[in-house]
Amino acid sequence: MDTVEDATIDPAPRPHATAEEVAAALEDTKLAQVLYHDWEAETYDEKWSISYDERCIDYARGRFDAVAGDQPLPYGRALELGCGTGFFLLNLMQAGVAEKGSVTDLSPGMVKVALRNAENLGLDVDGRVADAETIPYEDNTFDLVVGHAVLHHIPDVEQSLREVLRVLKPGGRFVFAGEPSTVGNFYARWLGRATWEVTTRVTKIPALSSWRRPQEELDESSRAAALEAVVDLHTFDPSDLELIARSAGARNVHAETEEFAAALLGWPVRTFEAAVPADKLGWGWAKFAFGGWKTLSKLDERVLRHVVPRRFFYNVAITGTKPVS
Ligand SMILES: C[S@@+](CC[C@H](N)C(=O)[O-])C[C@H]1O[C@@H](n2cnc3c(N)ncnc32)[C@H](O)[C@@H]1O
Repeated sequence: MDTVEDATIDPAPRPHATAEEVAAALEDTKLAQVLYHDWEAETYDEKWSISYDERCIDYARGRFDAVAGDQPLPYGRALELGCGTGFFLLNLMQAGVAEKGSVTDLSPGMVKVALRNAENLGLDVDGRVADAETIPYEDNTFDLVVGHAVLHHIPDVEQSLREVLRVLKPGGRFVFAGEPSTVGNFYARWLGRATWEVTTRVTKIPALSSWRRPQEELDESSRAAALEAVVDLHTFDPSDLELIARSAGARNVHAETEEFAAALLGWPVRTFEAAVPADKLGWGWAKFAFGGWKTLSKLDERVLRHVVPRRFFYNVAITGTKPVS
C-alpha cells in the first residue's frame, strides 16, 4: 500500500524555474535542491533512462552488491534518502533486497513521482518529504538505509550519517552508491563541457540545423546547469568518505569505486544526448550507448580495477553498520 505521510507534498507539478527563482536559489542551497529537483521530477526518469525493468533492476542490484553483496537477504524494512523518482530502492525491492520500503526526499515533486512509481509496481512503500540531515523517523526503525547519488547534495554529510545510524536498528546496514569521486568529477565535467561546446557550435552550421535544439530549450539547459552547480556540493575521495562514516559512529565501513573507462565514454554520450533533439537518436544509438557502457564496465571490473588506483574511478559507494551496543 502506498501512503503519503506528509501533507506538505505539493500535488502540482512544477513546470520550469524562472530566471528569478534561479537567482534566489543561488543564495540558498536547500531551496536550490527543491527547486531544481521539483523542476526535474516529472521528466527525470526519461532524462536519465531510468526504468523499473530488468535493465535497471540489475543495475541497482549490481551497485548494491559491489559493496554489500556478501550479506544475507532480504532486509525487512528499508529507508531511502534522496529517493528521487525511486530508482534505487524500488529496483532493489524488485531484486529481493528489501521487503518494505520508505522513500524520502527534500523535493516534494520527487516523493510524489516515487510513490506513483511504487504504486504502479505494486510495492509496499510509503513516503515522506524529509531532509537527510534531520530524518523524521524514530530511533532503531530500519534494517537497511540506502541512497543513490544523494550524499554529494547534503551540506553536512557526517550529520546525515549520524542520523542514518540513529534510525537504523543495532546491527543494521547502510549502503550509499553513485557518488562522484573527486578525480572522476574533474574529468567528467571537463568531458561534458567540451562535448556541449562542440555539439552546440557544430549544429549552428546551416546544413546541420535539424540537429540543433530550439534556442529556448538550450537556454533552459543552461539555467539547469547553473542550478546544478549550486546543488552539487561535494565530491569524495573514497578514503575520506570512509573516515567521515567512522567519525559518525559507523562500524565495518568499506568504500568501493567503479567505472573508469565506462565513465570516459558515458559522460560525452549523455551530454551529446542532452544537446541534440531526442528524435534524432534512434534505437541504433541507444544500442551503441548501452552496449558500449556495458563492455567498458566489464573492462573496468575485470582489468582496470586491478591496475588503476581506486580514486580514479568515477562512482563511489560506501557501506557500514550501526554498532550492536
Ligand atoms: C541526483 S538526485 C538522485 C535521485 C535518486 N536517488 C537517483 O539516483 O535517481 C539527488 C536527490 O537528492 C535529493 N536531496 C538533495 N538534498 C537533500 C537533502 N538534504 N535531504 C534529502 N534529499 C535531498 C534531491 O531532491 C534529489 O531528488
